[in-house]
Amino acid sequence: MTTAAADQSITWSDDFLIGIKEIDHEHRCLIEDINKLHQELLEHVDLDRIEDTLGSIHARMQAHFALEEHVMVSHDYLHYPEHKAEHERLLDEYTEHMTKFEGAPNLVDKETIEDLLRQWIVDHILNSDKKMSLTVTSGKQA
Ligand SMILES: [Fe+2]
Ligand SMILES: [Fe+2]
Repeated sequence: MTTAAADQSITWSDDFLIGIKEIDHEHRCLIEDINKLHQELLEHVDLDRIEDTLGSIHARMQAHFALEEHVMVSHDYLHYPEHKAEHERLLDEYTEHMTKFEGAPNLVDKETIEDLLRQWIVDHILNSDKKMSLTVTSGKQA
C-alpha cells in the first residue's frame, strides 16, 4: 500500500488483501471510489458530480459494512460488537461530513473527508478487517 505525498491517491496492493474474496473485491472498489473523489476534488469538477461520488461512497460503505457484519455473525465472531461499533462510528463521521458538504460545499474542508476515508482504509482494513478474517478463514477466534 502506498500513499504518495504529492498525489494523495491510494495505490492498491496485496497488503490490503484479507483473504475473503467478496470483501477483498469490495475493498478494491472502495479504494477506486476514494481515488475518484480525490481526482474530482483536485480537478475542481462540478459540485453535483462530487456530491454523486460522495453519495456512492456512502452507499458502498453501508452495503460493505452490512456484508462484513453478516459474515461476522455467521461465524460467531467474538469481537463483533467492537467491530460493528467501529463501522457505525466511521459511517456517522462520514455522513456528518457529507451532509455538511451538501449544505455548504465551500465551507467544508474537503481534505478532512479525504483524510477520514484514507485513515479508514489504512487503519480499519489493515487492522480490524484482517483480524476478523483470521477467525473466518481459520475457524479459530483471535
Ligand atoms: Fe471492510
Ligand atoms: Fe470492517
